[in-house]
Amino acid sequence: MTVSTTTAQHPLLVRDRPNFEAGAQHLRVVDLFAGCGGLTLGVAQAAHGHGAGLDVVLAVDFVDAAVDVYRDNFPSANVRCASVEDFFDGELGELPTPSEQRTRSLCHDIHLLVGGPPCQGHSDLNNHTRRDDPKNALYVRMARAAELLRPDVVLIENVPAVRRDRKDAVGVTTKHLQQLGYSVASDVIGVHALGVAQTRKRHILLASRDGVLDVDAVLNDVGSKYLDLRCNLRWAIGDLVNVDNPKPYDQVPRASSANRERMEWLLRNNEYDLPNSLRPECHQNDHSYKSMYGRLSWDAPAQTLTSGFGSIGQGRYMHPELPRALTAHEAARIQGFPDYFTFASAKLRAQLADIIGNAVPPALSSAIASRLIPGLLADTSAVA
Ligand SMILES: C[S@@+](CC[C@H](N)C(=O)[O-])C[C@H]1O[C@@H](n2cnc3c(N)ncnc32)[C@H](O)[C@@H]1O
Repeated sequence: MTVSTTTAQHPLLVRDRPNFEAGAQHLRVVDLFAGCGGLTLGVAQAAHGHGAGLDVVLAVDFVDAAVDVYRDNFPSANVRCASVEDFFDGELGELPTPSEQRTRSLCHDIHLLVGGPPCQGHSDLNNHTRRDDPKNALYVRMARAAELLRPDVVLIENVPAVRRDRKDAVGVTTKHLQQLGYSVASDVIGVHALGVAQTRKRHILLASRDGVLDVDAVLNDVGSKYLDLRCNLRWAIGDLVNVDNPKPYDQVPRASSANRERMEWLLRNNEYDLPNSLRPECHQNDHSYKSMYGRLSWDAPAQTLTSGFGSIGQGRYMHPELPRALTAHEAARIQGFPDYFTFASAKLRAQLADIIGNAVPPALSSAIASRLIPGLLADTSAVA
């Protein structure tokens, strides 16, 4: 299917940032493990769509470069470059610690607590520490944050494999939230159906205080959307073919001569998968690496994008028609970031790769928050 990528309405090509802070009512949000703000952006878009303004009462991440990007895009937000444990350091069920008391006085009347704790430990892409990583305990920090802040709604995003965590992070968090009076639902949701040119799937835990909102219905509704076939790579990055710019955001990734030859071979032979004989010897007999050294197709979404998008040795990241891997700009588009979202403060390609690869497609939180906001703002007790 050929789709024009040049109409003014294309949501990824919009360059003017909407005034997310404006609105008659304000949605008060806390974002933990906030990264560059993919979850926040989705919530902002949803709030804007409902005529409400965004008020980020607290956003926390401990990586400077990610926090800088967040701050540039949400200048009114209270963003802190710190560990989440600096704000929430107590045990579940215990009285608040002194730092938690300070956090609580800063963050009152919160509508929405969102968080995407680090997921390397759960990820099926991680072969070393899979599902038994101390980082997985950070998932449960979200339950502690909910215990202290008592937001109306909690949204936790993670990889689908989090369900198989050895320490049962999802089960522990669900049980604790239920004990606090929240109704809890969780599901795995594909982002392609939500308008993202990627087959990424995410685990979402959604909890509503006092059962005010029907969280099961919200996740069922979001998860049952039909695939949006429009959202292929041509739609997402077709206009970026000839952008070769020295700025890291649009800079074409360098490739080794061996990888360059592999890419030339795929183009010459109009193939998308590299035959075993052309792979490095260590990959030749392992079929779980099939997508590595692969070429993307214009007519399909990309596979799950990681911070390795700049090298074909890290996954199926070869451009559909050029002998190169993806630029940071293309990767951001494939994650669903519109052009008004700026990554300009990240000066190093490695920073851009980490920040964009770690991000959550905003369409996910946008779809969920859109269904929550009318109910959240109808309860005016927390409206600024
Ligand atoms: C999966 S990414 C989050 C993506 C982000 N929620 C978004 O919507 O784009 C996880 C983030 O957690 C941050 N992180 C990991 N451990 C942390 C900690 N203990 N305290 C604060 N941030 C942490 C990482 O720097 C990373 O940016």
